[in-house]
Amino acid sequence: MTGAGGGAAAPLIIAVDGPAAAGKGTLARRLAAALALPYLDTGLLYRAVGRRVLDRGADPRDAAVAEAEARALLPADLDRRDLRGPAPDMAASAVAAIPAVRAALLDWQRDFGRRHGAVMDGRDIGTVVFPDAEVKIFVTASADARARRRFEELRGRGVAADPAQVEAELRARDAQDAGRSAAPMRPAEDAAILDTTALGIEEAFAAALALVRARLGRDSA
Ligand code: DC
Repeated sequence: MTGAGGGAAAPLIIAVDGPAAAGKGTLARRLAAALALPYLDTGLLYRAVGRRVLDRGADPRDAAVAEAEARALLPADLDRRDLRGPAPDMAASAVAAIPAVRAALLDWQRDFGRRHGAVMDGRDIGTVVFPDAEVKIFVTASADARARRRFEELRGRGVAADPAQVEAELRARDAQDAGRSAAPMRPAEDAAILDTTALGIEEAFAAALALVRARLGRDSA
């Protein structure tokens, strides 16, 4: 594998953005493995900040507390096992709407990508973190399909959930992530849109890889 991260050229950045449960994490992880690039789930950063705020018993919308926790973030916070579930989901989305939190996490994300290149998934990778990324994919799916997938995922993990509540939480988070004024979730103008509503995992991965190859203009990616 050549050209993914080495040489004098700028490291290769692949931005994978999109709403919750669209399949971007799975796709980004698999693209990273296929292209021998590091992978970063940027949602984990916001989740870890939200978690730290909740641990303090504070409101995730409290900008001063959230910024302080973002600046105090430690690598070990990303390994915590309590970063998912309705409360951390909404806390992550709430702290992510605070400009000072986003600013505190920006350099960290850019440094990660610049080191060896990366496949990064999130909401604003192609618009804000790496607006010059060589490849940008916006992965989406109908809210219905995403809610169903999230419900199945929870069931697979033995977590009791109510399908209607899962869908309501997902829609609320989408609205908050897309409606905020700081780096709102939206496709970059030059992003390829990948709608996975009717696609299985393998089909979606094949489509994503084909998009990467087309963008890189080579067949060996
Ligand atoms: O990708 P995720 O569902 O784990 O992300 C959790 C929250 O973090 C999401 O609701 C919005 C926020 N987020 C963000 O604002 N920007 C990113 N690049 C990644 C996540």
